[in-house]
Amino acid sequence: MFAIAIDGPAGAGKSSVARAAASALGFAYVDTGAMYRAIALYMLENHIPLEEPAAVAAALPGVQISLEYGEQGQRTLLGGRDISEAIRTEAVSIATSRWVAHVPQVRQFLLDLQRDLAKRANVVMDGRDIGTVILPGAQLKVFLTASAEERARRRALQLEQAGEQACFQAVLEEVNRRDAQDAPQLEQLPPDGVVLDTTGLSFEQVVERLTDMARERMDKEEKG
Ligand code: DC
Repeated sequence: MFAIAIDGPAGAGKSSVARAAASALGFAYVDTGAMYRAIALYMLENHIPLEEPAAVAAALPGVQISLEYGEQGQRTLLGGRDISEAIRTEAVSIATSRWVAHVPQVRQFLLDLQRDLAKRANVVMDGRDIGTVILPGAQLKVFLTASAEERARRRALQLEQAGEQACFQAVLEEVNRRDAQDAPQLEQLPPDGVVLDTTGLSFEQVVERLTDMARERMDKEEKG
């Protein structure tokens, strides 16, 4: 199997880049953030006190996550129910980044699930600890990043396009706050990882660089 690990901060475009690269290469795209979000949704729905890591850990055996792949890409299921949209709310984002993603038992719970997915298919997997912890043997490890200002600029543009008011300074503050809250300790570059700074690059350029690197590595693997 061939695995591509993509890590990096929130807002660097990991998921859209990973999805496009997976589609170009014929690989499965695995969005690990969605799995953390699914656990957070479960905890919220079951009124588990998020600020108590022991309570979150104790509730984990009730969490049943599965992923399905269809025309719309990855769908995330919780106990068989499609929660792909429900995990995108602000409440779930906050519960995930502030509490759930920091619970060691949650990370351990997802480790097996994520490794198992990479055993069964060629994957592009994105997250925070994929190249370092989950798939240290991935053939290509990319740390996708962009300056905080660039990520704030893109986010503000997205909000404007969605018809929402966006004050750049407020969006930048939010990006910085999220970076600090989001487990920066996880954001390490594996020794054989490649940094891809997307500041100033178009989406298409980023996808092309990534797929070029992947094809080069695959060629090498075949020959080597
Ligand atoms: O990428 P995202 O915004 O969907 O991630 C949701 C949260 O989960 C975010 O707080 C980072 C965290 N996360 C993590 O700790 N490890 C991962 N492999 C993926 C996401």
